[in-house]
Amino acid sequence: MNQLKKEDIKTLLKQREANSSKKDYGHALIVAGKKCSMGAAVIAARGAIRTGVGLLTVCVPEEEREILQISVPEAMLLLREDQQYDFDHFSAIGAGSGMGINKTTEELLINLLAQFKKPIVLDADALTLVSNRKLHAYIPQETIITPHILEFDRLFGAHQNNDDRMNTAITKAREYQIIIVLKSHQTAIITPDEVFQNSTGNAGLAKGGSGDALTGVITSFLAQGYTPLNAAKLAVYLHGLAADITLNEQCMESMVITDVIENFGKAFE
Ligand code: APR
Ligand code: MG
Repeated sequence: MNQLKKEDIKTLLKQREANSSKKDYGHALIVAGKKCSMGAAVIAARGAIRTGVGLLTVCVPEEEREILQISVPEAMLLLREDQQYDFDHFSAIGAGSGMGINKTTEELLINLLAQFKKPIVLDADALTLVSNRKLHAYIPQETIITPHILEFDRLFGAHQNNDDRMNTAITKAREYQIIIVLKSHQTAIITPDEVFQNSTGNAGLAKGGSGDALTGVITSFLAQGYTPLNAAKLAVYLHGLAADITLNEQCMESMVITDVIENFGKAFE
């Protein structure tokens, strides 16, 4: 298993050219949040806007749109109730964080998977929707899925230990030609050919919201034109590194994911 190392990660980061414009950094769409529960959408959106994407749109339920506009004024909005989306307009899509599991979100996800021909990140409720419908047969190649261990087992069956889970992950990554970001205290990135293990992060991330931020960051890097594997590597490493930098001002108990997102700048440095 390969370790994600600082020297390798540094070589992946692209320079931001002086004469570049927002069009050079992609347009990400994040589909997240549900009625009375917009934290995941806000956190995923903040993860994206702090990691370089040119434009960000967030698809939310109409009745909760103000929360998103106030919390993340940099983002544009798509209302979930409008079913006439042109998804191809976007450079990358991240779906699922706190999105809810119901008929509307299921239809939205089915449309999205059927239409969108570019890389997609599937997290949280999108993974449950996929496992309910056995939709994994329809996941486009190079999709990145970001399950934690319970979500992974819901998708692919229960496992006794992590070695067994890793073997299944390798088999499934090959079968579907996808990238699996298996989240834990030592997150692994499993591709059809290789496995990488992260070396950053700490138990201060063991709190609700940490995974939502990661989804936003992966989607942001994908939208900027990084390959799915490089987007996953950069996001996983920087997310953990920002959490480690946050220990300079907070302890593991007191840190919240918003502190971690605020430290992405130092992590990039
Ligand atoms: N050390 C390092 N990193 C950690 C640790 C740890 N001890 N614990 C968690 N992390 C990291 C993981 O690697 C991952 O990137 O924090 C993130 C947690 O992601 P998720 O498990 O998806 O958590 P999140 O979605 O933010 O919150 C839990 O998931 O199961 C659902 O409904 C549940 O709302 C809940 C949500
Ligand atoms: Mg999660």
